[in-house]
Amino acid sequence: ESQIPTVSKLRCVHFRNYEIDSWFMSPYPQEYSSNYVLHLCEFCLKCFSSSFTLKRHEIKCAYAPHPPGIEIYRTPQLAVFEVDGRKNVLYCQNLCLFAKLFLNSKTLYYDVEPFMFYVLCEIDADGYHFVGYFSKEKLNGTNYNLSCILTLPIYQRKGYGNFLIDFSYLLSRREFKLGTPEKPLSDLGLFSYRNYWKIAVAKALNALLRENKMGPVSVDDLCNLTGLIHNDVIVGLEQLNALVFDPVTARYGIWVDPKVVATVLAAWQEKNYVEIDADRLLWKPVI
Ligand code: ACO
Ligand code: ZN
Repeated sequence: ESQIPTVSKLRCVHFRNYEIDSWFMSPYPQEYSSNYVLHLCEFCLKCFSSSFTLKRHEIKCAYAPHPPGIEIYRTPQLAVFEVDGRKNVLYCQNLCLFAKLFLNSKTLYYDVEPFMFYVLCEIDADGYHFVGYFSKEKLNGTNYNLSCILTLPIYQRKGYGNFLIDFSYLLSRREFKLGTPEKPLSDLGLFSYRNYWKIAVAKALNALLRENKMGPVSVDDLCNLTGLIHNDVIVGLEQLNALVFDPVTARYGIWVDPKVVATVLAAWQEKNYVEIDADRLLWKPVI
């Protein structure tokens, strides 16, 4: 009765010219449960049992050469599409099923309406190629600004996860809100966020230092500069060795060593990862 196969033979997905090994089970419909390989259309993310049926579909895929939704960010190399879970139910369900192959935790697959999906694509002569995405709850009373994030394994460790995280905070800043990701984080999610919080706090401190505004600085100041919530700013400060315990007052204070900040930022810039150009975001929050 259940749609979820108890045993899945699925080992990898054929996506563009890649065969990507799956990491976890995903509840693809029963009819695919005997497949070792699933063939996915890179534009609508629909799945097929054979490369033949996929090829036949690709000729007439209604979405190609890009995902559905509204292009809200565009540079010559990259684009971000905002896809509404209510308007593009099937696409978003397919996206969640695909993402589940790389996510350990329970995630949603079918109840996509309450979410927006932000899909990052690399652009070349053939079109827009799906790199990763994050989802975000449309209405929420909490300060979660990201529900689920994925970079396809073939694109990982190139800075795209960092780009997506930064994008989620940029949206929060446009909403005049502080944000944090939904918990629990996966191990990879935690690695990526810890690194992001460190860099975000270092950038804010560096800006203050450069403007010679480095009088006393509070966690609140850093929240407002970065869009991070208190706890996450603290995690950033810790990694910059900037939290010191004062035995006299028995409280923690912020003590910044400009050399540590400079070293951390230099090491990060060395990697040459793509950065967001905030002027290219065409987006207003839904109120
Ligand atoms: N090991 C150690 N550090 C890592 C790792 C890793 N596997 N991945 C990211 N980091 C840290 C590193 O500091 C990295 O910089 P470096 O590669 O120069 O050392 C930094 O984060 C930035 O990494 P990115 O290249 O920007 O991250 P990536 O594009 O690989 O995406 C992501 C990270 C999205 C978490 C990816 O690993 C992924 O999709 N994993 C599977 C799905 C998942 O677990 N998502 C998070 C679930 S939690 C949630 O959604 C709220
Ligand atoms: Zn398609």
